[in-house]
Amino acid sequence: MSSDFTTHEALEHCITHTDVPALPEPYKGKVREVYPLDNDRLGIVVTDRISAFDHIMRQAIPFKGQILNQLAAFSFEKVKDIVATHIIDVLHPNVTIAKKCETVPIEVVVRAYLTGHAWRVYKSDERTLCGVEMPDGLNEHDKFPSPILTPATKALEGHDEDISEEEILSRKIVEPALWNEIKEAAFRLFERGTKVAAEQGLILVDTKYEFGLYKGELTLIDEVHTTDSSRYFYKDGYEERQAKGEGQKQLSKEFLREWLMKHDFQGLEGQTLPDLPDEFRMEVYNRYAELFEMLTGNKFKPVLEKNFNKTLGEILR
Ligand SMILES: Nc1ncnc2c1ncn2[C@@H]1O[C@H](COP(=O)(O)OP(=O)(O)OP(=O)(O)O)[C@@H](O)[C@H]1O
Ligand SMILES: [Mg+2]
Repeated sequence: MSSDFTTHEALEHCITHTDVPALPEPYKGKVREVYPLDNDRLGIVVTDRISAFDHIMRQAIPFKGQILNQLAAFSFEKVKDIVATHIIDVLHPNVTIAKKCETVPIEVVVRAYLTGHAWRVYKSDERTLCGVEMPDGLNEHDKFPSPILTPATKALEGHDEDISEEEILSRKIVEPALWNEIKEAAFRLFERGTKVAAEQGLILVDTKYEFGLYKGELTLIDEVHTTDSSRYFYKDGYEERQAKGEGQKQLSKEFLREWLMKHDFQGLEGQTLPDLPDEFRMEVYNRYAELFEMLTGNKFKPVLEKNFNKTLGEILR
């Protein structure tokens, strides 16, 4: 491991996938590779892959995995008094040892502002989202009277789909008692995330939680309040920008989404996924590092691994 490297080396040694013959095959998500370790534990590797519009980019972002893994670790620590978290240990900037949970197949989304998907629905004159009423007369990025819960099913393939609380219960996807526990946890987590963000001059706009059961206990899994699972606005000047209808300065992956749209890609059928130029990849890295620093108040210290697979084999063995 080294913290001394050139831009060329940083781009060259991105962790796009892992390969450790001595370990069992990992489950490969869009960003994470999940190694089963034993009956109770997982080795979760956060790679440098980046996805947008449900597509994984061909080029990875230097150190993005380290940033995300450490941001999640930071945020899990901030909420562990609210609900049990899956963290056992963070063994390496890219690797978390986690409790192996039986997953709840719902993405628990909480929104405090009319942004993103909620805005797209609202704009089409629809006022109900996942069975929740949205008040009339709102503009894009306006704040809801209080945060709303807009769950989605965790589809095995393709897009996640919106689902109402009523349907989650009637289709018996989650038992009522467990659902109540999840709901209560989600709102309390969101309140905490909002407070932590505010201390850093940020607004938590919306976020996604995933839950699982570990030995019967409700447990927060995957990642929490990271820039991949959440949107943030800058608090400073929010009101003025709303009054002028200027749009909000967004952190998170919006930067990449905007670049892709400028290059005629929105994940639609027939569109070609553009290659990310090196210079842009470094720009995205700098955005992520800036976000890490804003959210945690700590400086991000990248660690370059020239042979990550070897390190991984050693630490997971
Ligand atoms: N503690 C845990 N126990 C069990 N599964 C977990 C745990 N933490 C995360 N996971 C699962 O591991 C996977 C992580 O991979 P990643 O986040 O890259 O996937 P994704 O592309 O977002 O989602 P998916 O794999 O569902 O398409 C997710 O499916 C997540 O639900
Ligand atoms: Mg995920």
